[in-house]
Amino acid sequence: MSVRRLHPEQPESFAFTEENATYLRKVIARYPEGRQASAVIPALMVAQDQEGWVSQPAIEAVAKLLDMPDIRVLEVATFYTQFQLSPVGRKAHIQVCGTTPCRLRGADDIIAICKNRLAAHPFELSADGDFSWEEVECAGACVNAPMVTVGKDTYEDLTAETFNALIDGLAAGTPPAPGPQNGRFFSAPANGDTSLTDPALHDGSVVGKYRAFDREELTPTPPAAPAAAPAPAVAPAASAKPAAEKPIPKVVEAQGQADSEKVPDQYKPALLEAARDGKPDDLRLIWGVGSRLEELLHKLGVYHYDQIAGWNEMNLRWVDQHLGSFRGRALRDKWIEQSAKLATGWRPSDKDGDKPA
Ligand code: FES
Repeated sequence: MSVRRLHPEQPESFAFTEENATYLRKVIARYPEGRQASAVIPALMVAQDQEGWVSQPAIEAVAKLLDMPDIRVLEVATFYTQFQLSPVGRKAHIQVCGTTPCRLRGADDIIAICKNRLAAHPFELSADGDFSWEEVECAGACVNAPMVTVGKDTYEDLTAETFNALIDGLAAGTPPAPGPQNGRFFSAPANGDTSLTDPALHDGSVVGKYRAFDREELTPTPPAAPAAAPAPAVAPAASAKPAAEKPIPKVVEAQGQADSEKVPDQYKPALLEAARDGKPDDLRLIWGVGSRLEELLHKLGVYHYDQIAGWNEMNLRWVDQHLGSFRGRALRDKWIEQSAKLATGWRPSDKDGDKPA
């Protein structure tokens, strides 16, 4: 990084042209009253465009225009490397990025050419006065290193050969097009795509496919799920026990935490149109079930302890996903185990405090 200070030789004065002054009045008007200092960078840029560099009289003129102390404008002018603090080449001032990525990719060669062809030192004018150069910090085009900036253009992916061609073009008034100088499309892979090459990823055909319902199409087929044991339509013997737990299909197990997961309808348990003999069991005796949840279970077709006791875990999960805002309780409160115990005739002494094991 170069030391940035004012040039030892300064002009007597500076004044914006009428055209530039008119333009700056419009720029200043964009900011709220009393905030005209916000226009300091545009004003310095206009001064530089007018004179080729930013002199001390120009800094003072900007300070006066924006009602700022001179030192505040000087701070801005010396901070940003786009402001030239000394006279630059008539045809081009070349800013060479000398930060690590560009260094690793050949910035040393670029700087060597500047020294040999333009001027031995940064900020010196070339013998014909047409060129000058300096080293700057990262210009934000590291993926196209090494690179240089000339005015408002950047020239990237340079080699010694293409940089020499750039100087020739600038000298002749026919510079090459800005951007990568190796034929590369912006910062796209230099040797073609190496990832995400499947055309299906770009034609919209797999949009949303990674969401839960469609995931099966994109993942290897899981082991076949065991068929769900149908729930008994009639009350089992008093010693009814919960059905043996079936293994959970892997695709469901892996997605079990996702709210959007759907247990396939193949796991829907046998449900009733109405309570047998018009006498439903008191499902509120299941710990955690209140009136609203009982009503919801009735709507689903669940009226009896033995119904629930006969489910397997997938049946329970299927029902659970139809419990709306109560979702999660069936699993959390182990309804199958509770219902099996209630189906034997056992009753809690205190519904709220005596949770079946
Ligand atoms: S390191 Fe050179 S552009 Fe970033």
